Amino acid sequence: MSVLTRRHLLRRAALSASAATAARVSAGASTTAAVVGSAALASACDPDPESDPNRVPEPESRLGLRFPDGFGWGAATSAYQIEGAAKEDGRGESVWDTFSHTPGKTRGGDTGDVAVDHYHRYETDLDLMRELGLRTYRFSISWSRIQADGTGTPNQRGLDFYRRLVDGLLARDIAPMATLFHWDLPQSLQDAGGWESREVAYRFAEYADHVFRALGESVPVWLTINEPKTVVQNGYLHGHHAPGHRDPAAAYLVAHHLQLAHGLAVSALRAATAKSRIGPALNLHPCYPAVEGAEAEAATRLYDGYENRLYLDSVFKGSYPVDVLDDLGPDSRMVRAIRDGDLKIISAPVDLLAVQYYTPIYVTPSGGTVRRWPTSEATWQQIYPDGMYDMLTRIQRDYGDVPLTITENGLPTADTLDGDTVDDPGRITFLRDHLAAAHRAIAAGVPLESYHVWSLLDNFEWNEGYEQRWGLIYVDYPTLRRIPKRSAHWYRRVIADNGI
Ligand code: FCB
Repeated sequence: MSVLTRRHLLRRAALSASAATAARVSAGASTTAAVVGSAALASACDPDPESDPNRVPEPESRLGLRFPDGFGWGAATSAYQIEGAAKEDGRGESVWDTFSHTPGKTRGGDTGDVAVDHYHRYETDLDLMRELGLRTYRFSISWSRIQADGTGTPNQRGLDFYRRLVDGLLARDIAPMATLFHWDLPQSLQDAGGWESREVAYRFAEYADHVFRALGESVPVWLTINEPKTVVQNGYLHGHHAPGHRDPAAAYLVAHHLQLAHGLAVSALRAATAKSRIGPALNLHPCYPAVEGAEAEAATRLYDGYENRLYLDSVFKGSYPVDVLDDLGPDSRMVRAIRDGDLKIISAPVDLLAVQYYTPIYVTPSGGTVRRWPTSEATWQQIYPDGMYDMLTRIQRDYGDVPLTITENGLPTADTLDGDTVDDPGRITFLRDHLAAAHRAIAAGVPLESYHVWSLLDNFEWNEGYEQRWGLIYVDYPTLRRIPKRSAHWYRRVIADNGI
């Protein structure tokens, strides 16, 4: 079993590493090369032309789909990706400061030191949100602004910034949705073992408690941990995110502690207020067999365990999936770290599940992956809107009627500023097709209450630096001027019409 486990994990690590390398190489190549690459892929796998990100939609074309009254139209960001002001008002260093300042870790050595300077320009950004007509805005709180070293008395200046932001949203009739942790662990806690240390989960609960006591009821929806899986896979398996480790055994230990931290934060909110709601934010990937046959099906099932059930089952069923535990083996660091009562903490009832959908995964009989659809500028992302429908309906089937919000969905496009305009038809097509899939899920009875585009603004895309532009709003980095793209104008109309 342990041989199989090691083989499996090493294979996954190798695969992920090569996918990451491919992503870095193609994103660094010229636009022409990227387009030629995806065209070649497109003809090789004969994709649905509807999914082509380069297809220009009719700007006026309407699908005639109305969303339920009160549907939450939103956009999302995260602290390190937009705030900048890295050394201001008592903010401490996070693992992303360290990582981005380490030579060779991010494209072009880009860092979040300035990012899009949201910390100073948040009023401008709030006004842009109001002009878009957003009903909900999802942002994250930087732990190291609240506790520079990750412990102790909270830093009032850090709390004040988020108070101003939250009040600014409420004054504009936009519902705040705050994520407690979007990957920026205080560096001091990393030095003390990071998420490999169980203690860090308890520090997280204390931090959450400070934040809840300062802002709790003003924020109707709290999200605990953004994409624990990405920390596990990118941070600890193939190392292209902070803290940059390549250690499969540590990776799943980290998974358990992230889940534990989630559960402890849920209990902390319940102790602080009964008014706000809380849930996890999971990036879920529908996994499909790449070919027919029992072997591909079995490999897909296990892949799904690592991608989805590890995080879903622990929260919603109070158990880790047996196939994943078996694959890891009884002697694995994760399995040995699970204590009596942990799963009870992790499965403390939540009020909603935040789903982040970007791509499907096609699994081969040997447990590898292949691409089936054209990719966006991010070569890990295959464009397949039906995957969103499949995931939303599957959650309801497997986990019941938990209220759902989509907290991230979007793609990077090769945008250029032309005078005062940015034309990004590929984003309009992508959003429209994914919203149509979301609408189908609602029609099938899925309790989906809101949708957030990733992202409000172009921003620091982690190891990809500023090269990939994911925003509805273009940021001219030399001047930091904001220019709503054509997709932003389109989205404003979607919101006003409550439909596509
Ligand atoms: C998600 C992250 C978000 C952003 C998008 C493109 O995995 O949560 O910060 O990087 O991908």
